[in-house]
Parts: sequence; C-alpha cells; structure tokens
Amino acid sequence: MSKRNLFVTTALPYANGAFHMGHIMEYIQADIWVRHERMSGNKVHFVGADDVHGAPIMIAAQKRGITPQEFVAEIAAGRKQYLDGFHISFDHWHSTDAPENHELSQGIYRRLKAGGLIYTKEIEQYYDTVKGMFLADRFIKGTCPRCGAKDQYGDNCEKCSAVYSPMEVVDPYSTLSGSRPEIRTSTHYFFKLSDPQCVKFLREWTNGTGKDGLPRVQSEVLAKDMEWLGEDGNLSDWDISRDEPYFGIAIPDAPGKYFYVWLDAPVGYLASLKAYCEKNGLDFEQLLLDENTEQHHFIGKDIIYFHTLFWPAMLHFAGKPFRIPDHVNAHGFMTVNGEKMSKSRGTGISPLQYLDLGMNAEWLRYYLAAKMNSRVEDVDFTKADFAQRVNSDLIGKYVNIASRAAGFIFKKFEGRVRDDVMQDELLTSIRARAEEVQKYYETREFARATRVVMELADRINEFVDTEKPWELAKDPARAEDLHRVSTIALEGFRLLTLYLKPVLPATAERVESFLSIDPLNWASVSTPLTSERPINAFKHLMQRVDMDKQLNVLVPEKAPEPEPVLPGGEAIAPECKIDDFTKIDLRVAKIVKCEHVEGSTKLLRLTLDLGEGHTRNVFSGIKGAYQPEDLEGRLTVMIANLAPRKMRFGISEGMVLAASDANDKNLGLFILEPDSGAVPGMRIR
Ligand code: MSP
Ligand code: ZN
Repeated sequence: MSKRNLFVTTALPYANGAFHMGHIMEYIQADIWVRHERMSGNKVHFVGADDVHGAPIMIAAQKRGITPQEFVAEIAAGRKQYLDGFHISFDHWHSTDAPENHELSQGIYRRLKAGGLIYTKEIEQYYDTVKGMFLADRFIKGTCPRCGAKDQYGDNCEKCSAVYSPMEVVDPYSTLSGSRPEIRTSTHYFFKLSDPQCVKFLREWTNGTGKDGLPRVQSEVLAKDMEWLGEDGNLSDWDISRDEPYFGIAIPDAPGKYFYVWLDAPVGYLASLKAYCEKNGLDFEQLLLDENTEQHHFIGKDIIYFHTLFWPAMLHFAGKPFRIPDHVNAHGFMTVNGEKMSKSRGTGISPLQYLDLGMNAEWLRYYLAAKMNSRVEDVDFTKADFAQRVNSDLIGKYVNIASRAAGFIFKKFEGRVRDDVMQDELLTSIRARAEEVQKYYETREFARATRVVMELADRINEFVDTEKPWELAKDPARAEDLHRVSTIALEGFRLLTLYLKPVLPATAERVESFLSIDPLNWASVSTPLTSERPINAFKHLMQRVDMDKQLNVLVPEKAPEPEPVLPGGEAIAPECKIDDFTKIDLRVAKIVKCEHVEGSTKLLRLTLDLGEGHTRNVFSGIKGAYQPEDLEGRLTVMIANLAPRKMRFGISEGMVLAASDANDKNLGLFILEPDSGAVPGMRIR
C-alpha cells in the first residue's frame, strides 16, 4: 500500500489568552492519532497556528496600549511551554497574520469572486460614534425586548432566554464606550452559500467518505449538517466582511473592508502548512495536489458549522491546488466534575499549574485516551477517576510488569532474554491483538485501545502471579524457568509499550533506551527482544499521582457555602390581634422604574404599579443594597395604606418591605418578592 501523506490540523486557538485544558485535550487527541500514523510509516504534516484576528483582540490590545501585533506576539511566545510540556508533536506553529495567510486568503477570495459567489449588500448596523467603529453584536447590550431585563446581550437575554436581533434591543448601549450607538448602513461582502451549486456540493461532501473510505464526518455531525442544509437547502449567505478599524486581512479592491476573522482563520491551516513546506524544502502546491495526500481537521463541537459548511465550500470553489477536507473530526468538551470549565466559577484546570505541580503530562494523556472515543461526547475530569486510572491501571498494571521482570533479566542473566520463548502462547496472543489496537487508534477509539492494553496487562500479571518468579529465583535449579518467565513478561511489556506509544511517547522512549531497542513502530510487533542486545538497568518509569499534594491542589474541593446565621437574633415584638394586622393593607407592587435620588446616599426612588391605573412614588432606603437596574421589572410587597409622607425629595406614597438584621446590617437588606404568578394589586393576607 502506498504511504499516506497526511495534512493534519487542530483548531487554531484565539490568541486572546493562554491555553486552557480544553485546548490541551484537543491537541492530545490529535497528537495521539498523529503519532499512530507516524508509527504506521505514513508521512504526517501536523500544523497549528494562532488565530489572531478580530475585534476582541484589537480591543484587548488597545486596552493595554499596545498594537494587536505586539499583543498576539506575547501570546505566541507563551505557547511552546504547553506544547512541549504535554508532548504535542506539531511540525509547525504559525500565525493567521503571517504573510502566507494574507496571500492565501486574498487568493481564495479572488477565486470565489471570479466564480460569481461573492456579492455586496448594504446592511444596517450599530455604530459607536465615540469609538468610531461598527459594533459586533457582542459589544451591544441593552434592555431585553421581551421581558424588560436590563443589561442583556445584543442577541439574547440571560433572564428569559429570548433570542432576538440587536436592532430589537431597547435602549442599546455600546459596551466599549457606554454610549448609545447609531444605526448606520455599510456595504458588506457576502459569500453566496445559498447558491444551489454550493448546497449541492455540501450535501455531497458531508455525506461522502474521505480518501481512506471512512465517512468524512461523524454521524452526529452529519445529522447536524443535514438539519442546517435543510430539505431544500436554505442556507443563509455568509457575511464575510468587516469595516475598519479591524485587525484583519484587507479585502482586495475594497478599501476599508477586512475579512471577517472566520474567513481567514481556516485559511491559516494552509498558511501554516505553506510556511512549514518552505522551511522544509517541500513544494506546498505539489503536496496539496498529490493524490496520496489527505486533509484531516480536529475540532471541537462548537465550531462544526464553520468547518463542515463554510470551509469545504470555500476550498471546493477556490479550486486547485486546494483540496476539500477528507475528515473533520469533532470532539466534545472537557468538563470538570460534570461542570463546564470556567475561570470565573473556579471550575477550570490550569495546564500550567498541572505541570508546575510536577504532574506527569503522560498521566493526562493516558487519562484522556482512556476516556475518548470517536463520538462527539464530552469528557469529564474527576480526581477519583484520574487517580484510579493512573495509579491502578497505568502504574499498577502496565508499569508494574517492567519492574517485576527487568530486574531478574538484568541481574541474573546479564541482561539477556531467552530467544527460544518468544513464540510462547501468551506472547503470540498479545501480538495477535496489534491490528485491532491499530484500528482503534486509526478510528479514534482510544478508550478501546487502552482497554485492550489493560486486558493484556492483566493477563501478563496473572501469568507472573502464577509462575512466581520471586520463588523461582530462590532455587538455582530453576534458573531456566526464571529466565523463561521474566523473558515472557518483559517481551509482553515491550509489546504493551508499543501499543501505548501513541499515548505515552516519553515513557516509550525511556523503555526503548532501557531495553536497548530501536524506536518502536507498528512493524516492531514482529521483532521481539533479542539476546544479542542486552538490556540496561531498569530505571523507574513513572511516579504515582499524589491526591493531597497534586490532585487536591489542582482541583480544590469546593467548600460548601456556609449558611449565614443571624447573630444574636432580635426579640419578637409584643403580641397583637388579627385586627391589628388587617389594618395594614399589604399589596403586591411592580417596580416599573427605579432611580437614584440626587443628593441622597440612602434612598432610591421607586415608581410602583399596584394595578390602580396610576403609579405611586415611593422612596426607599435600600440604595446600599440594590442597583436601580436590579430592581426594575420586579415584583415586591408594599404597605398601600400608609399615610403619604412629605420628604426632602418629594412625597412618598407608601413603603416597600424589606428584611434586615436590626442589630447590625452586616447581613444586608432584602426586599420581599412574591412567588412567581402573583400580579400587581394582590393583597397579602
Ligand atoms: N479560533 C477559533 C477556531 C478557528 S479554527 C480555523 C476557536 N478558538 S478557541 O480558542 O475558542 O477554541 C479552540 C479549540 O478548542 C476549538 O476546537 C474548541 O472547540 C476547543 N475547546 C474550547 N473549549 C473546550 C473544552 N472545554 N473542551 C475541549 N475543547 C474545547 O474556536
Ligand atoms: Zn428577557
């Protein structure tokens, strides 16, 4: 079979921050696959790059008073320690702002334009007159047009989950300047994804197979794509331009217009490959045109749309030498204790802290491999599971075999194995699993691959337990048996090391050196250890993970929030009669408006609706506890028949109720709110 030529990428991370564990998980998945391919004798070109363009990075740089180029250079400088630290074997790392990407993106665009797939249209968009720029939806906030909640994002409401267009937002403001944006029109460039030839092509592409005969996309992804493509192909056209100022790549013959970051980002895969080719004396175009070349992308589930619709269409209609992806492999997200990783909620795991704690990168590689399959499923990290897989499986089962066998060979047999036992039944049965393991790596069923290895490790350990080499060692007459048993265990260990090498490259290297063998690859299955090359002294291969010093520091136990207790408490008021209570008319009121009161540090002015046909004005001393916008739209409880009181700022027509601790106000102040469903004017009785 001719050797495959594999162009492999991982998603290009935004250069707005350091890597998080989700990134590392993706790189580990791709790296395991890549190492497996290299071990199969295939040629791999594994490239990555920083995705540096777009408004958020431009603004982050502005805030720091540096250029976007300086900003992303800093980020780029920090990448190596992670990639090396986790043994990620990229052949090249690039940037989407590199000259290759400008050239390739503009070239692809010109081809699409020549193909009649680009058109322009005037669109209306918010414009920040203070900042002098058009605002992406994410920079707009305002009042939800559905429920009236304040400070909601420009396209969805966190309070009522409504989704809407930024143009519908009530009282919009720019999160960049706080000012009210104007609506302005501007010419935008569109990629005509709705074109019937596009839709037809995408249908074929998503349903097709790669050069290796396997489906291009996973079944879940195919289902999504089919949903997006719709019955009769109702894809929306894609807005690919942004107006200056923008950190991006200029659109040819369109002054002041830049490519939207998602247009040039995937082209960055090609730019990185091109730079890598130039560095290594390869012909970039030839490589793409080569019929043995395949293009594989590893991505997360959140960017499937871009990679299985926009990207293949761009490549296909740009024409040669560009090629359509053979595979887009989507993975799920890494979660911690079942929760999304979030810095603010403290549920993330820092890759650098992981390394700083002296945790072995291969533990994580093994752990993730043991949990990953070819489906778009989330992968959960839990400490107990991690400790179990690393300490019990990886070390207790696999590493343990070496320490049990190598010592005898080295000390009692001058480091030489027994050549005549290499076709032993146990070893033959282990070798017979090689193809299965390779197939699992090939199809990204890593969990299955590790499961086979652990099953085989169990069998070797059972064999050692039965044969008891430590007892054989006591009896000089049984030296041949001891030699046989330790040889079989050690050759078994060599095979398992081979089977785990895509996951544990550094350990495999150390094993190769102590067994004094050539670098293992899939062909090594049939080249057993030989007495001609004596082994070296066994060196410790791997520590156990420490729960207290490592895992508990990396993922601290969340202390349960203590329930606040009322200090001291407050004496209950003297007894009263029900009539005393009914004298007070308590009503549900809606806070329709809430404002600061000029000149008062304590009061907020509430406009309350009790369903009377008019509103009431009430001053309330709750300024210390609430922002006006926290209260607007909410229901509360007020005394409706309290005599009006003239205050310095106006007349107060009632009083809202709030709970507080009379002794000290440390515990705060809490207005009352009826259960949902109550309406203004209802009496509390
Ligand atoms: N810049 C774009 C990709 C452009 S590709 C031409 C982007 N960047 S990202 O930094 O947000 O994400 C990079 C990759 O990390 C994506 O594949 C994304 O799915 C993946 N992950 C982000 N969070 C993740 C987890 N919690 N778990 C696993 N992968 C995660 O999107
Ligand atoms: Zn809402």
